[in-house]
Amino acid sequence: MFTFVKNKSMNDVNANIIENTKKFVKQKLEKAEAGHDYWHILRVLKLSEKIAQKEGGNLLVIRLGALLHDIADAKFHQGDETIGPRVALNFLQKQKVSENIINHIVKIIENISYKNSLEGQKFSSLELQIIQDADRLDAIGAIGIARAFNYGGYKNNPIYDPDLKPNLNMDKETYKKGNTTTINHFYEKLLKLKDLMNTSTGKQIAEDRHRFMMQYLEQFYKEWNI
Ligand code: ADP
Ligand code: NI
Repeated sequence: MFTFVKNKSMNDVNANIIENTKKFVKQKLEKAEAGHDYWHILRVLKLSEKIAQKEGGNLLVIRLGALLHDIADAKFHQGDETIGPRVALNFLQKQKVSENIINHIVKIIENISYKNSLEGQKFSSLELQIIQDADRLDAIGAIGIARAFNYGGYKNNPIYDPDLKPNLNMDKETYKKGNTTTINHFYEKLLKLKDLMNTSTGKQIAEDRHRFMMQYLEQFYKEWNI
């Protein structure tokens, strides 16, 4: 009986923290580029929960990590990679979250991004693997295509240029500049993601989305070369 009451109140506290975090993130991302807005965060949250159902992991860490993973993405902050982890840390310290959970979430935010994985990821945990898979799944498939073209538009990049070949081995600095055609971005990142999934559940979801992108590209070239 006592344990039941204790667990229930812990759940209440956690539900409260999640609600506060949602409000904070929604407000922070109010003017974000559409591919990295609050809807992206909600999709990553849902995908993370779905993957965690099969793979396990600490749900509080997974939910908070998913909600805060793009709180201040370096590419929208003059390349500064310290802002996101710092904003998350400041926010979490005001919530009833234990120090070890806060440290774990900060590490997740520091290590989740694709560009950082290009120079070797310095930290890993099941929770990071799950959120990273969810984030990468939102970069592929129909939604991934929409996000890529939106970001390409935001950067004023060309849609396609048959004379520009994709650069398949970009280092982190070149990747960060993002000066590429959006069709090349498929080869430079999006089509690689299926084989970079951490979890088997993530890999399973990725297969279908990957196939759709291949089909999309085929149709794109068919129309281009009419
Ligand atoms: P991460 O968030 O893991 O660091 P990125 O920020 O590189 O990954 O990319 C997030 C999403 O932004 C991509 O999946 C894609 O939709 C879009 N994006 C990033 N760079 C480009 C680009 N050069 N052209 C088109 N879309 C891009
Ligand atoms: Ni993201």
